[in-house]
Amino acid sequence: MRKRHLVILSLAIAFLFFAQWSRPQDSTPRGDTADNDLVLTPPMGWYPWNEFGQEPQNEKLIKETVDALVSSGLKEAGYAYIGPDEGICFSRDASGKLASNLARYPSGLRGLGDYIHKRGLKYALYTDAGTRTCSKAMPGTKDHEYEDMAAFAAWRADYLKVDWCNTEGQNVAESYTKLREALRAAGRPIVYSLCSWGEGEPWKWAGAVGNLWRTTGDICSPGKADWGNAMKIAAANERLYAAAGPGHWNDPDMMIAGMDGLSEPQNRSFFSLWCMMAAPLMAGNDLRKMTPSTVQILTNLEAIGINQDPLGIQGRTVRRDGKVEIWAGKRLFDGSQAVLVFNQGAAPAQVRVEWSDLGLEESAALYVRDLWRHQTTGPRTGGISVTVPPDDVALLRVSKTDAFPLPPIIVADSYLVSLRAAGSTTQKLSGAITVKTNGSDELLLWKVRPGLPSWLSVAVTRNGKSQTLANTVSTAGLKKGLYHALVRADNIEPVSGRPMSALYYDVDLEITEDAGGGAEN
Ligand code: GLA
Repeated sequence: MRKRHLVILSLAIAFLFFAQWSRPQDSTPRGDTADNDLVLTPPMGWYPWNEFGQEPQNEKLIKETVDALVSSGLKEAGYAYIGPDEGICFSRDASGKLASNLARYPSGLRGLGDYIHKRGLKYALYTDAGTRTCSKAMPGTKDHEYEDMAAFAAWRADYLKVDWCNTEGQNVAESYTKLREALRAAGRPIVYSLCSWGEGEPWKWAGAVGNLWRTTGDICSPGKADWGNAMKIAAANERLYAAAGPGHWNDPDMMIAGMDGLSEPQNRSFFSLWCMMAAPLMAGNDLRKMTPSTVQILTNLEAIGINQDPLGIQGRTVRRDGKVEIWAGKRLFDGSQAVLVFNQGAAPAQVRVEWSDLGLEESAALYVRDLWRHQTTGPRTGGISVTVPPDDVALLRVSKTDAFPLPPIIVADSYLVSLRAAGSTTQKLSGAITVKTNGSDELLLWKVRPGLPSWLSVAVTRNGKSQTLANTVSTAGLKKGLYHALVRADNIEPVSGRPMSALYYDVDLEITEDAGGGAEN
């Protein structure tokens, strides 16, 4: 009897041990977001669809726009994610793998990514959850989820928009969840942008799946800004405010500010609404020919500071008075609040914002910053009166102090370090990237995540708001070949103590001849 018990016990222990040992090792933490620690503030960048549609999306257009984004000052204002939308970028070859469309993108999709990374920008690509993309010009990911996500990772994408065309019979949440698993398996942290135009009510579940989700249909047909439709989209998106937060955002579509057909007040209002809604700031206009007014609107750091606030709260309408709306409910990282007064009427409106509209005591003595006029008044009690012209806004910040600091706005000189060693002797190579903040405060030192390959070390030094990440490579013992590392650095926003979006960059090393010593990778 005793012996039988012992045998059963031993078998049970062996089974438990085996079950534990054979369980798939998934070290990815499962939080309530896409848990890649990306876009903890809304993504900023540019996408071609609103202005151009499918034509003439090609390498030339994307590269010219990259250059314009840098030279116009948009990069300094925080715009970073850029790349083709449904721009006929790839096809599926006979073996089932995605292949770059070299006729349109002669450098290949990896080459285009390198061009973008070398300019300190992040690479955005596009695909579809169904069998084909919307125009049917490109293959969708259906039944190719894992190999396609591996292709996007190999092209070094940092952001992937996944459309919802040609998905007959597919379940929205299941399809996007499967693609999220495939993205994880591909191993590269990629901002995951769901584009089901509100189908399947993604605001109810997509916070655990992706980083942003379209809440509505398209904001315009390519090349035709539509103010009325944009206002309907803003109203629909406004109601979903509770779903937004760091790393998971409602997406009311790319911006139309700066496109033909909108007046200057409409551009200003549109941008203010998108800032107030913590919406992704993906510019949709032609960056190569912007008026000074458009540049000034798209690069207003005081407005962008509202959008890039580390608390990530989506503002909402707290009072409607005929054609005038007061938006608030957007507490900011320094304890101040954002307020938007929007006049959709045909005549100028005199509007009184009461502190009670903002949930504050009438007796509070508060400073008011006008984020378009760049002027501070106060302290004042009770409230403030503003006059707002038709289709225009007053975008304000209300605070107990007159400091009005800007949150971090991160700008890098490059996200790609490429090193090459020719010769058989051991060499030390180095390449640095510089990351700065255009926010008010200096940052703590970026902390490089441990676990780098043994051939790479990274040292961080600070010079005020700029920091240098010096990458040193030793080729000792490395065989001829290509080596790659993805470096991750983390930081916290110093005023609120909130985590900032993780910073990633690629290090490529090419060894053209064997060096002495044993092999190492
Ligand atoms: C859908 C999306 C758009 C754009 C086009 C491309 O309509 O909503 O943003 O990507 O597809 O065909």
